[in-house]
Amino acid sequence: MNVTVFSAKNYDRHSFANSGRGHEFTFIEDRLRPETVALVAQSDAVCVFVHDIVNEEVLKVLAENNCRLVALRCAGFNNVDLDAAKQYGITVARVPAYSPYAVAEFAVGLLLSLNRKIHRAYYRIREYDYSIDGLEGFDVHGKTVGIIGTGKIGCVFGTIMKGFGCKLLAYDPYPNETMLNLGAQYMPLEELLARSEIISLHCPLTPDTYHLIDSNSLQDLKKGVMIINTSRGGLIDADAAIKGIKERTIGALGLDVYEEEEGIFFEDYSEGIMEDDRLSRLTSFPNVLITSHQAFFTREALANIAEITLHNLDQYEQSGTCEYSL
Ligand code: NAI
Repeated sequence: MNVTVFSAKNYDRHSFANSGRGHEFTFIEDRLRPETVALVAQSDAVCVFVHDIVNEEVLKVLAENNCRLVALRCAGFNNVDLDAAKQYGITVARVPAYSPYAVAEFAVGLLLSLNRKIHRAYYRIREYDYSIDGLEGFDVHGKTVGIIGTGKIGCVFGTIMKGFGCKLLAYDPYPNETMLNLGAQYMPLEELLARSEIISLHCPLTPDTYHLIDSNSLQDLKKGVMIINTSRGGLIDADAAIKGIKERTIGALGLDVYEEEEGIFFEDYSEGIMEDDRLSRLTSFPNVLITSHQAFFTREALANIAEITLHNLDQYEQSGTCEYSL
């Protein structure tokens, strides 16, 4: 098949170009969006990532160009209008799981860095400042950790935190056996927010979960709580997060995702002017640690993403359907 790969980085070229599976790949660095969809001419499929915009307007043009498959290189699909895809007869396939360990371990990394201020110590040492004043943290052991969304990643995160000796609270409409076996206690969201000293978000972004943490939920939070979000930026209202930090309700915030990250994360703005004032404000707090949507980024995850995406392409070419279609 002829496949146009959008948002293509060097590691995507390495993963796909020499796959030996007989597909022809065209790599485009830009995101798929209404302004770039014209580049798909002659493609049987497009291969996209988290920031590509696959809305009705884009899908219409894909259909007009006989492009019948959208192969996502990720698990989340909040950037795809599935109803419109159905209407235009376009199959949407994803990579449902590639490494829950990659994301869960990164969430723990954010938690530990924020708590023990490793990100700040790094800069002190580079200035030959060996003082430790202000770098005090707390024992994670014995803390109450609230996990919102206990699917594949949430369960791995819960298993790691159990190993630290934490008490686990959980919120998910579908309680999970693994979490129950870890001794996690499921409860309503408000109760989890009120009781947790650390909260980690692992649910998908849907209309139900949009701004799950907003200015109303700030009132429910335990004072000084640490919040970690490696799921999707839209789960947290960034204005509410800023308010929560200024009011000292949120004691630390680790973000691998941000609600307006499209067009910013994965790009180099070091020589430019940052236009996003909310992101600048969040970046300015000493107790906020932001990374650029890199939780998935391990060798193992990349290999699995490539393998499952190629499997989706192969299957569609052979049968017109995909095991992992949505
Ligand atoms: P999963 O589908 O295995 O688990 C999601 C869980 O969330 C399910 O148990 C589901 O019941 C639960 N859920 C659904 N609606 C909910 C609600 N309203 N409230 C609470 N829980 C709810 O997905 P997985 O693989 O664990 O991934 C979770 C999320 O992590 C993805 O949706 C994606 O947004 C994000 N992700 C982030 C990455 C990164 O690099 N930062 C990489 C991969 C995934």
